[in-house]
Amino acid sequence: MSTAPQSQKVQIFDTTLRDGEQSAGVLFSAADKLEIARALAALGVDVIEAGFPAASPAEVAVVSCIARELRDVGVCALSRAVPADVEVAAQAIEHAHKPRIHVFINASDAQVVHQLHKSRQEVIELAQASVALAVARVGEVEFSPMDATRADPAFLAQLVRAALAAGAKVINIPDTVGFILPTQLCQLIAELYAAVPELLAATLSFHGQDDLGLATANALSAVGAGARQLEVTVNGIGERAGNTPLEEVVMALAVHGPRMGVHTDVHTRGIAPLSALVEARSGMRVASNKAIVGRNAFRHASGIHQDGVLKHRSTYEVIDPASIGHAHGTEIVLGKLSGRAGLASRAHALGYALGAAELGAAYALFQALADRKREIGDADVVALCERVRENPAGAGRDIVGAP
Ligand code: KIV
Repeated sequence: MSTAPQSQKVQIFDTTLRDGEQSAGVLFSAADKLEIARALAALGVDVIEAGFPAASPAEVAVVSCIARELRDVGVCALSRAVPADVEVAAQAIEHAHKPRIHVFINASDAQVVHQLHKSRQEVIELAQASVALAVARVGEVEFSPMDATRADPAFLAQLVRAALAAGAKVINIPDTVGFILPTQLCQLIAELYAAVPELLAATLSFHGQDDLGLATANALSAVGAGARQLEVTVNGIGERAGNTPLEEVVMALAVHGPRMGVHTDVHTRGIAPLSALVEARSGMRVASNKAIVGRNAFRHASGIHQDGVLKHRSTYEVIDPASIGHAHGTEIVLGKLSGRAGLASRAHALGYALGAAELGAAYALFQALADRKREIGDADVVALCERVRENPAGAGRDIVGAP
């Protein structure tokens, strides 16, 4: 994809293997993780969060295996702001070509008081010490003040300042419970830059959850406010309602990035195959109406839309299905709301060039059938075209096809 010279890159940090695996009911095997990591690297993401090594020796082993194999992509290990976690994370990624440790600690009062049972000062000290330890081990360290969007902005600023002073290169703003609105997020980021000017020298990142269905909108707002890294998962899998979907932000930036002055380096044609891989390995079915990768994303059912896309695809599609490697491309789904244009086009594709009178007769049969059947398939279209051919005058009397 060619980009304007002044366009800035938004790094794609994929956490399918870490936060994605936090989806209820998902368990990736080591082989699954390696296969997905290879596919993510081939897609051109910038960083792969391979796991949370302190969770188990098996997790250390799989993160280490990914770190040893992958080149040209960052391999990141998550770590609580606890020295022992940082050591295990560092050990897991010691052979990575581009290692990163992602240190996090709770930042909102709700979590600091009710979960961590620590004072704000203790949180700052833990964050600073852990980031410093991680920097001593790998150099590239990302820091996340967890639940940042519900934290006291003054405390958030203190925490970010401390992490930067300890050497963090990436500051991630997690919307841990999917709470914030896009406009509020812009304001929060603007206030953070004003309170912590040294943040301008670091990379600002955003991590969204989809509890209110706002993860993608928030990610794009964050980019507008200065974020140059987005944390995402394939198909949006992840804790509770999931994370910001990779495919949505990448394609939204492919469509709007040129006007926003940003781009990603993702090879978008790999999106559909990767989505299918993650669907298969996670066991989490992608909803038919899911943006970009849902089964219906490029299927047109109503007559007006079918007529439009048959004349020109851009009438009712904002992206070309081929650009995401979609197997079927634009599809006309024949049913109750379809018009003559859709029927004529399918009949033509099946070898029937119907004249006006034949089309009228075929359409009458089609409508009667479509009142009883949700989708009219190729076999139905062939049957009704044959009926019209055999008996143009009497074709409208009965209905062909199975109910
Ligand atoms: O949801 C969250 O806040 C996280 C952080 C560790 C980034 O997953």
